[in-house]
Amino acid sequence: MSYAELTRAVRAHLDQDHRYRHCVRVARSADVLAQIHGVDPRKARLAALLHDLARLYSGERLIDECERRDLPIGEFERRNPVVLHAPLGAALAREQFGVEDPEVLSAIAKHTLGDEAMSPLDCIVYLADALEPGRDFANRRFIWDLACVDLRAAMSAAIVDNFLYLASLAREPAPQTVAMQRIFDPSVSQGVQPSLN
Ligand SMILES: [Fe+2]
Ligand SMILES: [Fe+2]
Repeated sequence: MSYAELTRAVRAHLDQDHRYRHCVRVARSADVLAQIHGVDPRKARLAALLHDLARLYSGERLIDECERRDLPIGEFERRNPVVLHAPLGAALAREQFGVEDPEVLSAIAKHTLGDEAMSPLDCIVYLADALEPGRDFANRRFIWDLACVDLRAAMSAAIVDNFLYLASLAREPAPQTVAMQRIFDPSVSQGVQPSLN
C-alpha cells in the first residue's frame, strides 16, 4: 500500500476529519524527528499515521475488543479505558493494515502511557503525538525544540509536563508512565513518585 493509499484508508477508518488531521500532523512531526535522530522515517510515519485507529471507540468497545484479543487490561486501564486505544490500535494496525513490524507495533502500543522500555522509535511517536503543532499547551514549543536536539531530555520534560497536567486535574499517572519516567529522569528514586504539590 502506498503512503497515499494508506492515508485514505486511515481517513476512512477514523471517519472523522479532526482525528485524521491530528494523525497526519503526528506523522509529519514523527518524520521530522526520525530524520534528525537517525531513525527510519518510514517506520515513524507509518506508526504515527496508524497510532490512533481506536481513539474514537467507546470505553465499553475498547474493553470488549481488548478482551476478545486477550490484550492485558490492568486496574488503571479498567478505570481509564480510553488508554486502551493504544494497544488496541496496534492490534488493528496488524489486522486491518497488515503491519507486522514489531518496532512499529510497539510504537503504536506505547504512544499513550509509555513503558518501562522505550526505543528511539517509541519515543519519537510518543513525542510527536504530544507535541504536534495542533496541540495547544504552554510548553509545547519548548519541548518540541528540545526533541529536535535531545530525545531523552524531551521525554523527561514531556513526562514531567504530563504529570503536572494530571495533578492539576487530580488524576493519577499510569504505572507504565511512572516506570517510564525512571528511565528518562535518573534523579527520581525507584518507587518514589515526584511530589507535584
Ligand atoms: Fe492516542
Ligand atoms: Fe494521538
